[in-house]
Amino acid sequence: MSKDTFTIIDNRTGKSYEIPVEYSTIRARDLRQIKVHPDEFGTMSYDPGFDNTASCKSRITFIDGEKGILRYRGYPIEQLAEKSTFLEVAYLLIFGELPTKQQLAEWEYKIMHHTFLHENMTELFHAFRYDAHPMGMMISALAFMSTLHKEASRIEDPDVRLKQIYRILGKLPTVAAFCYRHRIGRPFNYPNADMGYTENFLYMLDYMHQTKYEVNPVLAKALDVLFILHADHEQNASTSVMRSIGSAYADPYSAMAGAAAALFGPRHGGANEAVVKMLTEIGDVKNVPAYIERVKKGEFRLMGFGHRVYKNYDPRAKIIKRIAYEVFEVTGMNPLIDIAVELERVALEDEYFISRKLYPNVDFYSGIIYQAMRFPPDMFTVLFTLGRAPGWLAQWVELVTDPEQKIARPRQIYLGYDYRDYVPIEQRG
Ligand code: SDX
Repeated sequence: MSKDTFTIIDNRTGKSYEIPVEYSTIRARDLRQIKVHPDEFGTMSYDPGFDNTASCKSRITFIDGEKGILRYRGYPIEQLAEKSTFLEVAYLLIFGELPTKQQLAEWEYKIMHHTFLHENMTELFHAFRYDAHPMGMMISALAFMSTLHKEASRIEDPDVRLKQIYRILGKLPTVAAFCYRHRIGRPFNYPNADMGYTENFLYMLDYMHQTKYEVNPVLAKALDVLFILHADHEQNASTSVMRSIGSAYADPYSAMAGAAAALFGPRHGGANEAVVKMLTEIGDVKNVPAYIERVKKGEFRLMGFGHRVYKNYDPRAKIIKRIAYEVFEVTGMNPLIDIAVELERVALEDEYFISRKLYPNVDFYSGIIYQAMRFPPDMFTVLFTLGRAPGWLAQWVELVTDPEQKIARPRQIYLGYDYRDYVPIEQRG
């Protein structure tokens, strides 16, 4: 009968060690017993970017990168995108089960009745320059919310956690809309709880006191599906930050501000904005081959391509590509789509991309849709933030309720000076 262990032989000493294996994983801590001298610290694992390190045990999202599979609490993303709604998916991610009709109605009511911002917060937006990046405003607004809701620091109280979850999911669309309206110098539209989640968001963005105003249902639905597709993605960079700040028992607003800051990076959620800039720079389908050659020379990366986990087509990109054409029926075709489709075609036939298993990811087509919906590129990552909020919150709840979790505090391999005495300034140089 084989044992669930590894036997490690340290060739430096000839000693052998039996290390337990669970879920095809070893506990890094079990390596510490491997030493040459008993007074040593012991053996660590080294994993820059945490490419092969599990930070937690989770039951929220499953990804199979080789097969291009994404499931939330076991449900395939394709079915949720087709049959569910964003608020229902948010409930699923946070509570672990699809809601009953009554649970969903109460959940939607609670969230849609936590959409107003404190007037002090409304004043916050007026402090920003007209050209402040909306993600900078979003990150600031999240941190500002922690100053308003002081009870949020009681993160071990489930009722307190739930109240903050209502507030964050309810208020983030209002924050995003106020960011946009501040940027374009228009008065704020206050939320309307009689509308649906994405319908209310589009209303707050767009309403200019027309006598007869209706949100286009095709656009509201498309945005709802896009939010579903962005809702969670296991231990990505921004979720890792959410968990890391959460592990210090900071309040969820402060943790969300940190997570949003990570998402802002062009290698992460900022890629959708970078994709549109890239496609605009390419300018025409005939320029695609030359651009691909520059990528292959290493001049820059193909934004919206590649993924740490997916070594196959990102299942979200497939769905988003389909939604794009549904949106174009309403908004008119975005000419960048032709460049994107040609870029994808050429790249997927090229050995450089094939050998590195580089495929379109969630950001490759999403920016094209947002642009067609008349969102400015610097609002794209704000939209990603709205979509990812329930995922960050679900992961945060799982963290604070996991008895195995401790404060995140990685080790290092120290390669600096061993010891040296202070040098007076007169003797330097
Ligand atoms: C998101 O983690 C998540 O789940 C993220 C996300 C989520 O939902 O939270 O899915 C959202 O962030 C999607 C990714 C958006 N970012 C981009 O589209 C930016 C462009 N992509 C890359 O920068 C890159 O692909 C990453 C950052 C996404 C992944 O980088 P990895 O896993 O660290 O890969 P790597 O840097 O080790 O690259 C492996 C090879 C390298 O070539 P070699 O040095 O071996 O010759 O592939 C090359 C890289 O140069 N490569 C690319 C490339 N991405 C990787 N070459 C050209 N274009 C690219 N986009």
